[in-house]
Amino acid sequence: MPDISELVLYSDLLSLNSSKFTQLTGKIIVIKYGGAALERRELKEPIIRDIAFLRRVGVFVVVVHGGSRQLDKRMKEKALQIRSIDGLRYTCDKTIEEARIVFGEINTEIVRLLRDMGADAIGLRGEEDGMISAELKSFETYGYVGDVKKVDVERLRSVMEQGKIPVISALGRANDGQILNINADDVACAVSSAVCADKFMFITDVEGILQDPSDPSSLLSTVDDEKIENLLAEHIISRGMVRKVKACLEAIRNNVPVVHILSARQPRALTTEVIGETHYGTKLVRKEIVDSAKK
Ligand SMILES: Nc1ncnc2c1ncn2[C@@H]1O[C@H](COP(=O)(O)OP(=O)(O)O)[C@@H](O)[C@H]1O
Ligand SMILES: [Mg+2]
Repeated sequence: MPDISELVLYSDLLSLNSSKFTQLTGKIIVIKYGGAALERRELKEPIIRDIAFLRRVGVFVVVVHGGSRQLDKRMKEKALQIRSIDGLRYTCDKTIEEARIVFGEINTEIVRLLRDMGADAIGLRGEEDGMISAELKSFETYGYVGDVKKVDVERLRSVMEQGKIPVISALGRANDGQILNINADDVACAVSSAVCADKFMFITDVEGILQDPSDPSSLLSTVDDEKIENLLAEHIISRGMVRKVKACLEAIRNNVPVVHILSARQPRALTTEVIGETHYGTKLVRKEIVDSAKK
């Protein structure tokens, strides 16, 4: 159980109409935890506390984490060349070895922090025990980079039924046993579809999708798939955000009702957004749904 002082931090939310919490019980939320949120110590605690709180009020949370900045750092230390192709890391066998170590450490840390916060969490390495089955993309172009073929959804369900939070790292394994590097946004997207998530949320280092990436006040608060396609075509969305919004598009087209992109710097954004008290970041929905709601 979390220390009572932790819950005091949420006392305003806990005093809300209890039907809000009843509505949340049993809902499934997939959280992609990445970017600065993983890097900076002061940003980690509020996110972890939010995740633990959501579990405590009955939400089934699944965490998928990245770790590309930490891997960059490690590759520099090991004098390995960092190369990005179409927003994906060119991955040689040495990079895979380092990725296993770095992502493994991050996975262990998230699990430990959640447990310290009173939540029961379990680390699931994507490349182990058939958690993420993957397929090589193109060895010539990207090296050992894969696409998700299958997620072990039975295992995830069983962990969730035990009240535990699965924490998944973004590596996968091909049929021939080769470990493949997969963009964590793509893994999170596949997981959210596999578990039929009610919500899919990205915690990153920007407020959400910005109309002008250099201006934080140009945040787009709600966008539909058509608008995202336009932003991609106009190159307003670039770098890491490209893969993220593509994962969002796939998820909303695969019947995940709503996807959010939130900043790790916004205190309690995760809980207040889930509870529906305040809207932060960017919310992505399917255009047909917005149109039919208007009718
Ligand atoms: N239109 C945009 N709005 C917001 N961020 C953008 C946009 N275009 C590019 N970006 C970049 O995308 C980055 C987020 O992606 P990424 O670095 O991969 O984060 P994560 O580690 O969370 O996956 C932002 O830090 C920002 O530099
Ligand atoms: Mg990224």
